Amino acid sequence: QIRLPEFGRDRVLHRARTVEDFRRAARRALPRSVFDYVDGGADEEQSLRGNVAAFRRRRFVPNSLVDVSEPDLSTTVLGRAIAAPLGLAPTGYTRMISPLGEPAVARAAAAHGLPYTLSTMATTSLEDLAGFVPHAERWFQLYVWKDRTLTDQLVERAEAAGYGVLEIAIDTAVSGYRVRDVKNGFTIPPALTLSSLLDIGTKPGYWTGMLRNPALTFANVSSGGSAGYTIENITQQFDPAVTWDDVARLRARFGGKIVLKGPVSARDAVRAKDLGLDGVHLSNHGGRQLDRAVAPVDLVAGVRAAVGEEFTVLVDSGVRHGADIATAIALGADACLVGRPYLWALAAAGEDGVARVLQLLLDQFRRTLQLLGVTTVEQLRREGPDLLVEDP
Ligand code: FNR
Repeated sequence: QIRLPEFGRDRVLHRARTVEDFRRAARRALPRSVFDYVDGGADEEQSLRGNVAAFRRRRFVPNSLVDVSEPDLSTTVLGRAIAAPLGLAPTGYTRMISPLGEPAVARAAAAHGLPYTLSTMATTSLEDLAGFVPHAERWFQLYVWKDRTLTDQLVERAEAAGYGVLEIAIDTAVSGYRVRDVKNGFTIPPALTLSSLLDIGTKPGYWTGMLRNPALTFANVSSGGSAGYTIENITQQFDPAVTWDDVARLRARFGGKIVLKGPVSARDAVRAKDLGLDGVHLSNHGGRQLDRAVAPVDLVAGVRAAVGEEFTVLVDSGVRHGADIATAIALGADACLVGRPYLWALAAAGEDGVARVLQLLLDQFRRTLQLLGVTTVEQLRREGPDLLVEDP
């Protein structure tokens, strides 16, 4: 494999101190159009920017003179013990970011004792991923298809392959309009364009990896392979007519925990709870769907107040530092998830990169707890309102 010494993966692993360092390294490693696909958001990217800003608006008011020599980061989410209140959100088509794909991400998550969510749009099948990380905590994210037989088959396969949590994405009635992708002429699978030809000269590491790539397919969509499928014609199969009745039907079919993933309001979170669901995963898809959608972290306190203490509240979109995890929990969330941070790390330094970026987030979270004078996740939740103010 060709390595550019100054941009090589070892150098990234050695030098990266922040999530932003991994983002910069990913920009160097990936063709422009692939980087933009990961990095970009919908329309004016108001939500994309707003997500990060909403976390950074909060300021901590620490407890003084507490023995914080041994903070405990572990917690329980959806009835499962995990090493820290952090998970990996579902992202589609990961073998386009790196030929290592979903298995590399799932292994790095498992090594840290954190849950990984496989996307319906993954390039690794549910069953194959389970084989790669047989003992790990695995979640599956479902898109509801117009073809309800296909939807039901996916749910059955997830249950049979030992996925304990089903996340139903409810923010994708139609695809968001991602201006960068449109302007770049970006398609999935990627097509050879003039700019990708130019890229072959400047990103040899990426292209040599891709040439050895196993066929890029939507591995969960069709057992007979998915040749001829593009993201366009697949997303047209997502049903824009999904309603609460469908969710109730899925509740009856799936034996594990079910969570709704999207920018869920407090009122709808209560409705989800009343339907017998187990939680909500507050998300605006990382700013990739409805632009100007509220920053999910701004929903947390209201949703928590409406659903009570027992119902699970997860949040993603804009988590870039361990302090963001602390902020979300102080506001009432049970855990945070990240999307782009692990994709940037995967692009820059493969499986070790993902492990490293997760370690970075956990180290930051631990240090934040210690400097906050907090020793457990439970205490952070309980004392949250006293530990946080909004920057005027
Ligand atoms: C996503 N996301 C996503 N969500 C989902 O439910 N199914 C999917 O297939 C995908 N695919 C996907 C691809 C890429 C490239 C990105 C960046 C995101 C959304 C993802 O689960 C999560 O909500 C966001 O990534 C969280 O925001 P941050 O951490 O990226 O800011």
